[in-house]
Amino acid sequence: MSVVAAKELEDDAKKYAAEAIRLDSQGAHGMAIQMYQKAISTLVKLVHLYPDYRLNKQYTERAMAYQERVRAIQAAHGLLPQDDPQSGSDWAPSAPEGGPAAQGGPGGGKGPQVVQQLKASFSDLVITEKPDVKWDDVVGLEDCKQAIRESIVFPYLRPDLFKLGWPRGILLYGPPGCGKTMIAAATAAEIDGYFISVDAASIMSKWLGEGEKNVSKLFSTARKMLSENKPVIIFVDEIDSLLGTRGQEVGGEVRVRDQFLRETDGINDKGKNLHLYVIGATNKPWALDPPFLRRFQKRIMVPLPDNPARMSQFRIYTAPLTLAGDVAVETLAKLGEGYSGSDIKDICQGVQLRVVRELFESGKALDKETQTRPITTADFKEVMRTRRPSVSQEMQRAYTQWSENFKAL
Ligand SMILES: Nc1ncnc2c1ncn2[C@@H]1O[C@H](COP(=O)(O)OP(=O)(O)OP(=O)(O)O)[C@@H](O)[C@H]1O
Ligand SMILES: [Mg+2]
Repeated sequence: MSVVAAKELEDDAKKYAAEAIRLDSQGAHGMAIQMYQKAISTLVKLVHLYPDYRLNKQYTERAMAYQERVRAIQAAHGLLPQDDPQSGSDWAPSAPEGGPAAQGGPGGGKGPQVVQQLKASFSDLVITEKPDVKWDDVVGLEDCKQAIRESIVFPYLRPDLFKLGWPRGILLYGPPGCGKTMIAAATAAEIDGYFISVDAASIMSKWLGEGEKNVSKLFSTARKMLSENKPVIIFVDEIDSLLGTRGQEVGGEVRVRDQFLRETDGINDKGKNLHLYVIGATNKPWALDPPFLRRFQKRIMVPLPDNPARMSQFRIYTAPLTLAGDVAVETLAKLGEGYSGSDIKDICQGVQLRVVRELFESGKALDKETQTRPITTADFKEVMRTRRPSVSQEMQRAYTQWSENFKAL
């Protein structure tokens, strides 16, 4: 097995979990659930792909703990799928057909009970409540917002004006950490309709049922909701996972992909006034093949933040911090060229840690009266020196190049 690839998944899981916990602590429940789910599906995938990995027992336990947390949040906020009359019993976990235990399971000391619990969680991996992210929380990206508004809101308000129909598939692509997931979540909050969010990696996870069946379930649930005469948006995050990961057939990618194509064709064919949309997000648009792309008639790049956007982001993230007089967001934005929105957040957290660490090292931190010193521009420079942008120039060029060939606004 490839330890490197396992490590990569492990890092992803850690990143998602950290983000989930942060959002959770801020009370952003919808987003937190999404992040926990990503962490869970990444861990499940890790255990599945590398059955002998020595840490698998820990990973399974961790996945279960996150699942517990998701359930707790859902229960506390009335978000349980079974509380939602729209989703009906369709989402009840189905009995595993020759489930993972029968397939030999993931090896290591995990009993069928554990496997069963993970298996039963498909319903948890799909969320239908509205995330609490607003349009205005998404910094910049005006073109993207406009394109989404036009594609979904206009046809909804005046279907009669669209004599030739309208596109149902929207692909958001671009470098990691620039707001794709966030903008999809904000769309849900903006539109008076239903939002079904699922990440493709969980659809592919064999433990959660056969991938192609998961795809049909997803669309049949969406179609049921349609009778309400409100738009229904299916959001598939990391949609490239439907087409396989790192060249390995994890969960029958070919069948899943074909099922997905059939289902999206179904949306486009049946009835002209169907308000069912599929928004896909990916940071690997080149992994999508032409038949797949054709179903996403709108393809919108979510780029790295420009200077004004970086300025706003620095303003937002530094607002709660104590800054020295020499700190100006204009300067930070300039220094921060090439960083993503999520990088900028990390930088601000890094700067905060710097002064907190100093206080602890001075031994005065336990005295509740003492505060950290004001943060200076030099602190930001130092953090940026040790934390390079997560999107390289080469990657940026790859996105621009792909965009030139395939964008569709
Ligand atoms: N345009 C933005 N406005 C506000 N916050 C942003 C923006 N871009 C990124 N962020 C911050 O970075 C975090 C990550 O963004 P998000 O998850 O939407 O990125 P993404 O494009 O979906 O990345 P990935 O491709 O890795 O999934 C957000 O939760 C938010 O805190
Ligand atoms: Mg994302």
